[in-house]
Amino acid sequence: MKYRALGSLVDDPQKFVEQPPLEPRVFGGSSAVLELLTTAEIDEVIARGGARTPGLTLAQSSKPAPTTEITLVRFSQEPDVRDLADPLGVAEYLQAGYSLTLNNLHRYHERLGRFAERLGYELASPVKAISFFTPPGAQAFTQHHDTASNFICQTEGRKLWRLYRPAVANPLDRHPWSWTTLSEEDRARLIDGPADMEVLLEAGSVLWIPRGWIHAGVTEDDLSLHVSFRVETSTEHWLTQTVMDWLADQRDFRQDLPAGFAASPELGRSAVKSVLEKMVDQLGETDLPAVTEYVRNAHFSRFIGPRMRPITDVLRGTEGTLDDVRIRPEGAVGHSWENGVLRVHLGSAERIFEGPSAVVVRDLLVEEPDDLLATAVARLGQADGERLVRQLAASGLAVRDSQTW
Ligand SMILES: [Fe+2]
Repeated sequence: MKYRALGSLVDDPQKFVEQPPLEPRVFGGSSAVLELLTTAEIDEVIARGGARTPGLTLAQSSKPAPTTEITLVRFSQEPDVRDLADPLGVAEYLQAGYSLTLNNLHRYHERLGRFAERLGYELASPVKAISFFTPPGAQAFTQHHDTASNFICQTEGRKLWRLYRPAVANPLDRHPWSWTTLSEEDRARLIDGPADMEVLLEAGSVLWIPRGWIHAGVTEDDLSLHVSFRVETSTEHWLTQTVMDWLADQRDFRQDLPAGFAASPELGRSAVKSVLEKMVDQLGETDLPAVTEYVRNAHFSRFIGPRMRPITDVLRGTEGTLDDVRIRPEGAVGHSWENGVLRVHLGSAERIFEGPSAVVVRDLLVEEPDDLLATAVARLGQADGERLVRQLAASGLAVRDSQTW
């Protein structure tokens, strides 16, 4: 594996993949971090009308600005325009000390899309990109935890981070941050106690915040722009739920519970007991390879699909020279090899390669040769090599160098 993305964030990507740090860690980063996103690009997205609510939000101390005051809903009745950001409204809230968040930037910002996709490929988990701009002397969010680990990549200015040990170990989506469910001790240490770690993150540096670690960032006399790469790992709880989904395909688990099962503790107990027994029986007879395949596919389908241009890459993909097409393994989220058949998982889709080209595709994905066409032609001959390269491009597994996507 070539760690093209992770290697620009952390010092030892191989070690990071084997054991992601369980405590927050600052990495020196690289010049690549500075190039991820600029305030000029944020301005451009908003000024050109590329930002919409609810993807765009403004918040101060965890309090959101009203949508009606930051969108064109005030000025237009057209349904496809109403949720567009109003640049002037956004500016007014920034002047008042609010911070600006753009969610899911990997979906529509070219460079971040490519970077998040590659990072997700290297970490074998879907990765989302979210940007946070904070004016000087402001705080977007008070202390909170997130339900996924994040790389905080400081691209402009600086931000002071206070980090506290988790109150909820490994929180899931069902454990969103809430002050009301905190214990007295946790509340006291967050309000009165010193932070467990304090970090002034400078532009170019990266802060890793593991899932559950409580954090709050403030700006002092400088502004701050950072990109968060949210790493959406699959958890044991997710696997358990996925196995339950698989069980739901067994008709035996779709019957109604007896009417009134919750009317008394006894009836409830007997219903729970009988279903649990059935579950244990069923799981005892589980076809392990079948359920594993189901779980793997469910994991792959959590990734966004192949990133390709429908007109140029697919509709017109058979035209033009192939000299500048390069392999792009991050277009796939995984592949499996069985009896000479290569199944390449593309998130929402799957491509199957058989025969001599299957072996070649597998090698290309692993080796990432610089010269794709020459390698394919050397292995398969001129006609089949060219055909394969066009096929890869139409699947999002190869891309023209001249294009950035
Ligand atoms: Fe956060």
